[in-house]
Amino acid sequence: MNTEYYLRQMSLEEKAKFCQGKDTWRTMDLERLGLKFCLMSDGPHGLRKQEGASDHLGINKSVEATCFPAACLTACSFDEDLIYEMGQALGKECVHADVSVLLGPGVNIKRSPLCGRNFEYFSEDPYLTGKLAASYIKGVQSNGVGTSLKHFAANNREYYRMIADSLVDERALREIYLPAFEICVKEAKPWTVMSAYNKLNGLYASENKRLLTDILKDEWGYDGCVVTDWGGVNNRVLGIKAGCHLEMPYIDERNTKKIISDVKTNKLSMEDLDRAVSKVIELNLKSFNVSKGDLNKDKHHELANRIVGESAVLLKNDGLLPIKEGMKIGLIGSFAEKPRYQGAGSSLVNPYRLDTIKSVLEKDKNFIGYAEGYERYTSDVNPKLVDQAVELSKKSDVIILVAGLTESYESEGYDREDLCLPKNHNHLIKEVSKYADVIVILQNGSVVDIPWLSDVKGLLEVYLQGQAGSKAVYDILKGKINPSGKLAETFPYKLEDNPSFPYYSSYEKSCEYRESIYVGYRYYDKANVKPLFPFGYGLSYSEFEYSNLMITALDDYDFEVSLQVKNIGDYPGKEVVQLYVHSNDSKVFKEVKSLKGFKKVHLEPGHTKEVRFTLNKRSFAYYNTIIKDWHVDGGRYKVAIGASSRDLRLSDYITFENDHVNVDQKDSLAAYNEMKEPIDEKSFLELYGKPLSKDVQSNVFDLSSSLHDIRHTFLGKKILSHADRREKSCSITLDGIDSDQKPSTVGQTPIKVLPMFSKMSGKKLSPYFIDGLVSISNKRYLKGIYYMLKR
Ligand code: BGC
Repeated sequence: MNTEYYLRQMSLEEKAKFCQGKDTWRTMDLERLGLKFCLMSDGPHGLRKQEGASDHLGINKSVEATCFPAACLTACSFDEDLIYEMGQALGKECVHADVSVLLGPGVNIKRSPLCGRNFEYFSEDPYLTGKLAASYIKGVQSNGVGTSLKHFAANNREYYRMIADSLVDERALREIYLPAFEICVKEAKPWTVMSAYNKLNGLYASENKRLLTDILKDEWGYDGCVVTDWGGVNNRVLGIKAGCHLEMPYIDERNTKKIISDVKTNKLSMEDLDRAVSKVIELNLKSFNVSKGDLNKDKHHELANRIVGESAVLLKNDGLLPIKEGMKIGLIGSFAEKPRYQGAGSSLVNPYRLDTIKSVLEKDKNFIGYAEGYERYTSDVNPKLVDQAVELSKKSDVIILVAGLTESYESEGYDREDLCLPKNHNHLIKEVSKYADVIVILQNGSVVDIPWLSDVKGLLEVYLQGQAGSKAVYDILKGKINPSGKLAETFPYKLEDNPSFPYYSSYEKSCEYRESIYVGYRYYDKANVKPLFPFGYGLSYSEFEYSNLMITALDDYDFEVSLQVKNIGDYPGKEVVQLYVHSNDSKVFKEVKSLKGFKKVHLEPGHTKEVRFTLNKRSFAYYNTIIKDWHVDGGRYKVAIGASSRDLRLSDYITFENDHVNVDQKDSLAAYNEMKEPIDEKSFLELYGKPLSKDVQSNVFDLSSSLHDIRHTFLGKKILSHADRREKSCSITLDGIDSDQKPSTVGQTPIKVLPMFSKMSGKKLSPYFIDGLVSISNKRYLKGIYYMLKR
């Protein structure tokens, strides 16, 4: 039966209801017509299916599932096949749990290392992000279940995430923030796309017609279902007209009533409503069409472990690794026993098993002891624990020290203020390094400062490794696995070096993306700023030699690039071969180079393999804002191959005798051509091309005003302090989140989502309460009381 069949038989009321979920995780069903619902669950690095109390913030428990490594680590594998395999396993877990859509992957670009949700995203590079995420989607969907590509788009900050306005110029949007979505939509066809909470250039993503219809549907050909982020609705009717099909979750009947009345008064056409409803019906029809297979959880655990072995990045090795047989090994750090292994928030998985480095290392015959070193849930130095660690160091030939960021440092919902590790971790590493050779293992969700780098002998970045991986880490330390992960993000020397630093304000609702296309290595290259560890960097126990670069033209813009890679070391191992295209000399401002290909190859010592890449028009093009299309400038382009963005080994040139095309003057702005200084407001304004919406402290409030905005009103103050207490009591129940250390985020909550939050805590707020609250905040007391009493 096609969607027409159902649409023809549905009443206006039924259609209106279909535009919103049935509850927190299910779409609406219609028994009368035999139409079942679709069940969705988070994602992305494991299944977060809730059977009891449900929420989208990581508060209540979910059923046990495999907790795979988070995207911050899996991205470092640079391995599409491996991510596909992980997707396949995730899809199997969905099928087994009757979940039809897994809410992921998240493909937002890591614009700043401060974003609290970076752990859930892949990279600062759109090509790498897009390719890996497309493999993830294909893997999950190969099981007959769907995914949700999120958060569309320009959702790169957590503070004020539900009302922030990302002010992004067209080139940055097309070249940095949209391509990962574009690759996934075109190559992997995700069942659903999730619109972001934030505004993009003044319009909420969930009602942004340009984004949802003109670009996603018309340009990229997307024909799946667009779903809002949970509670990410502003004006639902505008959303439907703009191409947002489904509102999640169910909160109350307010929007359903509005849809009905707007259809009746011709403010919303039946055609627009039918379009939205038919996408939800299609989604429901696709769901539950697969039969449950066997689920081998141990196999998934092994896979999760293997992924860590393929992704962990060796950042420093002064020759101590791999650890030689017979060396006495001491282990330090509370994370070795109580690991930090996943991020906090909606992606929180309830792992069915959890390995620790301590439990693995203890079995080594040369293991001589463990010391806690620091307290897990505070950053204060505990001198007694430090002394014990120092004692152990004196007896050991090598110390494995596990450190990183605790849960309260980074989470969905808020951003970090700096890149510092907890004080007690830094102090401990410095102290212990005085007495022993130390190898640090870092567990963190994003870039950190490493003030003790020169004091230690080795550094292995494992990010958030999931429930398994301790065995793989041990195997890397002992040389059974040759590390092959490469950084998917740049580690700067200091936060201030990051291009978004001068404009990444956590406290303003509008965020100017003044650095434009210069994100991550694109900036460090252009501004000639030396990074601590560059994008694409990672050490191996072996060495690889590159030779015989050949470029063959296949068509006007299509080329095949081939080369040979030889393992000239003693260890079998894998190398991530990276291809960068350097921009030509052009009037238009451009990055120095960008990643256009990557391949991971396994090589035995002494063996050689041929590696091939294909390049196409997009590999050389920039987005021309006058012709509103991708354009390749005439000139010479260098194609360079290497082991990291700063270690290029082979190169050759391709020349295009190309046509002239109109260039917008703003695309040749001196400030962007040079990138010597932070971008001034005038240059950004010119590039952006229209007035910037600024945060002005307004005395007029609306549904998007935050609780912080209305804190001076009696009611606002009361609600704010109540919400604050509730948030604190929730955080205490969360594993490992220390409520005293976690910043409060309730002030950023917009009024419009209060019904959703109160529903989550088991209370029902009249749908009109929020209108009343807005009126009262605007001193329209009678109207406010009328709304509040309205049922
Ligand atoms: C997050 C989404 C998530 C959704 C459902 C939201 O708060 O931003 O990524 O999928 O909740 O839990």
